[in-house]
Amino acid sequence: MDAADMGKDLSSVLISEAELQAKIKELAGQIDADYAGQELLLVGVLKGAVMVMADLARALHVPVQMDWMAVSSYGAGTRSSGVVRVLKDLDTDIAGRHVLVVEDIIDSGLTLSWLMNNLKSRDPASVEICALLRKPEAVKVPLDVRYVGFDIPNEFVIGYGLDYAEQYRNLPFIGTLAPHVYGGE
Ligand code: XMP
Ligand code: MG
Repeated sequence: MDAADMGKDLSSVLISEAELQAKIKELAGQIDADYAGQELLLVGVLKGAVMVMADLARALHVPVQMDWMAVSSYGAGTRSSGVVRVLKDLDTDIAGRHVLVVEDIIDSGLTLSWLMNNLKSRDPASVEICALLRKPEAVKVPLDVRYVGFDIPNEFVIGYGLDYAEQYRNLPFIGTLAPHVYGGE
């Protein structure tokens, strides 16, 4: 699927496929330098982080393992419920491990704040965050995000793992959804 197929549901392409891939390589370079000589456990947050996890993991040179958590803070709509539910926990014991949480997007930051507290209680050697996208609201939450791909405007975005009602995750770029699709103005 490309921008043309999206028809009227997409209002614009915010970050192109080439820009995404260049940024992933840049982040991987920083992570390789910071974790040189160490083993890293990448923890992807399902489902949105699938694309960034797959591309980031392949761009890294340090030895990595991958595990996944599924948490839910949003229903089928576009607003945070503020309630975090664990739908799938890690398979890995992270005690003593260097953990890097890979996220698609930080909006209110509620999900990651909760997740960081949860992971820190399991005694990892370290735990840091790599988020591809960050919205302006995130500054209100005390969250130490070590790696950020792009700071974006406060619009609902889709593509590259991000969905609206489970659609559009497979777009290779990040787009903004037309407000009429989700009942906005
Ligand atoms: P919070 O508000 O807890 O939200 O930081 C993080 C999670 O909310 C989802 N989210 C979005 N999903 N387009 C999406 O497809 C968006 O613009 C968007 N904003 C937040 C996402 O699952 C993220 O992990
Ligand atoms: Mg997510």
